[in-house]
This record gives sequence, C-alpha cells and structure tokens, in this order.
Amino acid sequence: MTRRVTKAVFPVAGMGTRFLPATKSVPKEIMTLVDRPLIQYAIDEARAAGITEFIFVTARGKSALEDYFDLAPDLEAKLEASGKTELLDILQSTNMDSGAIAYIRQQKAMGLGHAVWCARRLIGDEPFAVILPDDVIAAETPCLQQMVDAYEGVGGCMVAAMEVPPEKASAYGVLDIEEDHGSLVRARGMVEKPAKGSAPSNLAVIGRYILSPSVMETLDEKKLGAGGEIQLTDAIAAEISAGRGVHGLRFRGQRFDCGSKSGFLQATVAFGLARPDLRDEFSRYLDDVYAMRKAAE
Ligand code: G1P
Repeated sequence: MTRRVTKAVFPVAGMGTRFLPATKSVPKEIMTLVDRPLIQYAIDEARAAGITEFIFVTARGKSALEDYFDLAPDLEAKLEASGKTELLDILQSTNMDSGAIAYIRQQKAMGLGHAVWCARRLIGDEPFAVILPDDVIAAETPCLQQMVDAYEGVGGCMVAAMEVPPEKASAYGVLDIEEDHGSLVRARGMVEKPAKGSAPSNLAVIGRYILSPSVMETLDEKKLGAGGEIQLTDAIAAEISAGRGVHGLRFRGQRFDCGSKSGFLQATVAFGLARPDLRDEFSRYLDDVYAMRKAAE
C-alpha cells in the first residue's frame, strides 16, 4: 500500500530572465495564458489530483504570488453587489483554504534540487509531488492525476516522461530505461542535461514528480551536479542506486514549455482555441493570418 500524496512543492523562485522586461516586476508564474496565470494551471492540476497542502518555494521579488492567492473580499463584494455572478464564480474558484498554502524562501539560487530541499521540514516523512509551473500540460485526465493512479501500483518515485527529438535531449533530465512497459517505464538511471550525443535515451523528464521523502536525505548532502547546481535528477537517480524503484510515466496530454517564449505563444494559441467563448473568432483570425502568409509566399 502506498501512502496518499497530499502535499505538493511548487518551485517558483526562478527570476524568469527569459521574459525580461515583463519579469522585472511580475513573477513569471503570474503571466497569463488567456486569462489565468501559469500558477493557477499548476494549482488546479494539483487540486484535481487530491493535493491539499501547497508549498511554494519563492524568492525575493515574488510577493505578487502571495497576493494572488489571498482572498479578495472587496472585489468579491463589488461583483456581488453588481450581480456579476459569473465573474464572482471565477474569482471564488481560485480561493484556497486558509492554511493550505505555505511559502518558503529559497535564499540562494542553487538549483532545482536545492529549491525542493528547502521544503523538507514541511514534507516530513511523506511522499510528495513536485510541479514545475513552467511545464503546462493540457490533458483530459490531468497529468498529476495520471501519475497518482500509476504510483498506487508501483510506489517509489515517479516522474512524468515524454519523448523528445534526440538533439533536444540535452535540455532535460533523461531516463536510462531498464524495462519499457509502454506507458510505464522502469529506470535504471537518470542524467541531468546530458552532453550532446550522450543521452541514454530520448525519454525526457517533464516537470511533474512524485517523490519518496528519502530524496530529501540525498539532497541534504548538497552535491553539485550539471551546471554547478544541486539537481533534483541526481537525487532521484540516487534512489535507483539505493535499490529503490523509479518509474517514468508517458502521460497522455500535450506539454507546453512555458519557460520559453515560443512555448508560451503556442500554449496561448492552444488554450485560446480550447475556450468556447473565444474559439470561433480566434480561429477565424488564425485562418486569416495563415491565408495572408500563404498569399505572400
Ligand atoms: C528542469 C529539470 C529537468 C527537466 C525539466 C523539465 O530543468 O531539471 O530534469 O527535464 O525541468 O522541464 P530546467 O528546465 O529547469 O532547466
């Protein structure tokens, strides 16, 4: 029997320099896909998978995130008084239980593994999820829910996994595959950002994890890995060396790398087209753009 996963860590301390100048004053996690901040997609996915405790690892300049998750009583009262019930519902759907969110500061940028380690006292001895809000995943069954379902059968550690073109593998954590069961893969190793041409496979880790608390003990050693940072991938790989199971789940869904401008734009188009209230006008516009480009060729 695996223990239920009820805690999730959201590493949100990154400076988001790729999105300057926007991120000069707005945390990148507040940037919006259509009308919802990136972080809202991550929270909704976590909630759908049964997460009830949300741990944000933040940094200086990120206080807008805390404000975003606070209640907005004045705004609610105004919307109520003016009968804008639809907007009120949207607003209230983002309200969190009091005490459900904890904020921890990562005082120095020392890598993803270090960010996760900062949450160790709140995690204690339970399995926990990690969600990287930059990776937005559109899926019928939310990705983390798919992972929780698979995790119940195998325990240990689980990472979301996706095939990437071989020339892109060096941008990711990559799985060395021991057994391939289709959607579920058992790993014999994991490498963070392998040098070009040396990746053990083209199955890359995407930003969703279910981790055993023993990962925190490895992170305690503060060993530096790729890029001179403390890497989460290395701590998960150490689980395998210690004889504990690590699986990758080829999730069903489409992943957008919203840490890159191109990925963010693609997500904006995909989520815009998926919205019933925008779909018709927006797709007509895209058709026009396409036709004009064709005509200009
Ligand atoms: C992080 C992880 C990497 C993973 C990637 C997924 O890298 O370290 O293992 O493949 O997220 O998005 P980053 O993109 O922060 O460099």
